[in-house]
Amino acid sequence: MQVRQVWVAGSKNHCKSFGRMAQEDRCSLPKVRARVGASHGITDLAQKLHFYDRWALEYDQDVATLQYRAPRLAVDCLTQALPGLPHTALILDVACGTGLVAAELQARGFLQLHGVDGSPGMLEQARARGLYQRLSLCTLGQEPLPSPEGTFDAVLMVGALSDGQVPCSAIPELLRVTKPGGLVCLTTRTNPSNLRYKEGLETTLDELEQAGAWERLVAWPVDRWELATSELEVAPGSSDSEGFISGIVYLYRKQ
Ligand SMILES: C[S@@+](CC[C@H](N)C(=O)[O-])C[C@H]1O[C@@H](n2cnc3c(N)ncnc32)[C@H](O)[C@@H]1O
Repeated sequence: MQVRQVWVAGSKNHCKSFGRMAQEDRCSLPKVRARVGASHGITDLAQKLHFYDRWALEYDQDVATLQYRAPRLAVDCLTQALPGLPHTALILDVACGTGLVAAELQARGFLQLHGVDGSPGMLEQARARGLYQRLSLCTLGQEPLPSPEGTFDAVLMVGALSDGQVPCSAIPELLRVTKPGGLVCLTTRTNPSNLRYKEGLETTLDELEQAGAWERLVAWPVDRWELATSELEVAPGSSDSEGFISGIVYLYRKQ
């Protein structure tokens, strides 16, 4: 109930447009935790995408409050593992959301960016950012990506591999649109509430490697991924007293 009231209060405004007191109240950590925690509990894809539609205007501010670092970590992984990746590389940002990954890529000189997402509201924010040459509405797991085989030098999917979002069955589709020798960078959370999904994901990733479809270049565990939205998300007995959850970045090269 409390979460719903928060949504109604802020649904047409970005935090920055509120007055000073109201902005602090709206963006306070407990309220952000309640909003984002509610999204983690949604396991039906249609409902989840609808949630993102309503969240789109506040998404950037909220994930900044949670110290969400996945876009930067994924782009760090991509560029550090392959420092020779040319700035002319054509890159697909899958589940691009509002475009935080594009902002990180642009900061490192990559400008040939396409994005797809299943939420029209999130795509609208990505379009407003002005960093993508092409943006498409596409629901992963239900539709193919709107690109021919072997189109992209690199494909990233950040923050969308969890229950109720992108199913593991969509991973081969990412491979299909990647050029032979191209890169695929993926992230997922590794805290207790996402462990079942992560196990299924690793099975899919390993099966593709055993089939010779790609080779793993990097599996980078990160302790301080983002702040947990509730105590339930943090491992019991976790040494992290500041309440961060963990995550992992994977980087593969298509054979
Ligand atoms: C947590 S946000 C991550 C956005 C961005 N990559 C980032 O790191 O800020 C997850 C995004 O995945 C999208 N998404 C979730 N499931 C999807 C699906 N099955 N197909 C397409 N997009 C999906 C949502 O609409 C949302 O924009």
